[in-house]
Amino acid sequence: MKRRDFVRNTALTAIGASLIAPIGVFAGPQVTNLESEDLTLLPKIKDDYTLHFMAIGDWGRNGEYDQLEVAKQMGQWGADHPNDFVISTGDNFYPKGVVSEFDPLWHYSFENIYTAHSLQCDWYPVFGNHDWHSDVDAQIKYSKVSRRWNMPSRYYSKLISIGTGKANEDEVAKKGEKVKKSNEKALLVMIDTDPFLHEHMADYAEKQMQWLNDTLSKTGEDVKWKIVIGHHPSYTVGPRIENYDTLTMRKALSKTFEDHKVDIYLSGHEHSLQHLKPEGYTHQFISGAGSELTRVTEGIPYSRFQASEHGFMYFAMDANRLNVRAINLEGKVLYQTELTK
Ligand SMILES: [Fe+2]
Repeated sequence: MKRRDFVRNTALTAIGASLIAPIGVFAGPQVTNLESEDLTLLPKIKDDYTLHFMAIGDWGRNGEYDQLEVAKQMGQWGADHPNDFVISTGDNFYPKGVVSEFDPLWHYSFENIYTAHSLQCDWYPVFGNHDWHSDVDAQIKYSKVSRRWNMPSRYYSKLISIGTGKANEDEVAKKGEKVKKSNEKALLVMIDTDPFLHEHMADYAEKQMQWLNDTLSKTGEDVKWKIVIGHHPSYTVGPRIENYDTLTMRKALSKTFEDHKVDIYLSGHEHSLQHLKPEGYTHQFISGAGSELTRVTEGIPYSRFQASEHGFMYFAMDANRLNVRAINLEGKVLYQTELTK
């Protein structure tokens, strides 16, 4: 900057400051809010469910294919609604996973995309097939770099308190009895599905199935909901409706889901939003619309909802109710359903 310009700019700044200063004098008192010690924002829209989480899948594309727009909407939804954590249903990094916990893709496809304050909560991911192309375990190591990325191992479970349940409380209160507070729980089981599709990983897949059966069977009466999360769906009305991936997962998981009365299998892999209820106990949800989209087929008998739209899912639950919403990138609720027990 030339000296003459510097003098002129400084003079203009000084004039500006003198013009602005009196306005500040007439403004109302400056309120300084104390900083919140809690990351959780107070949501604008309250409900009477006790546990809330969002689920997104198939997202890591450097912000492209509307990844950034979906992320912004998730941030807005999280600011407006109660939310405890985020589930990632896999294919976290396209095209070939990450090579280490220092890979720049952590910034390009995750940290600099899901920037909203409301999304600085715990994230519980599973691996997708694309994550397996580089060092999958780097995504476990990243849990030591990021506070919000929580992946303790390739497959793992979370037991979460959900309280008594509003329907139970209402029922007891109607009888004029005192509501007994109990500590019902939801069991979330995250599995690593890609190895099921490769013969050379059969031993690994079998060991994991033993763990899955053990984990689902060692639950007490207090576990009200059993939710399994993996990348590959066992039913879909997307392009992989009857392909090798889908049929292999169906063969591997169906009996276990039926034996242990798994309420929900939540997956990704298909780039759409779906709710399917094939024969049997388990409801199937697919949330894989975090960036690129693929087509869906309408009119399949076991499908209750399908949309080839960018978005995510939102789960709100207590001991008796499990509400699921599919939300697009404009924040529109495309579909809502509620399971009860
Ligand atoms: Fe996938």
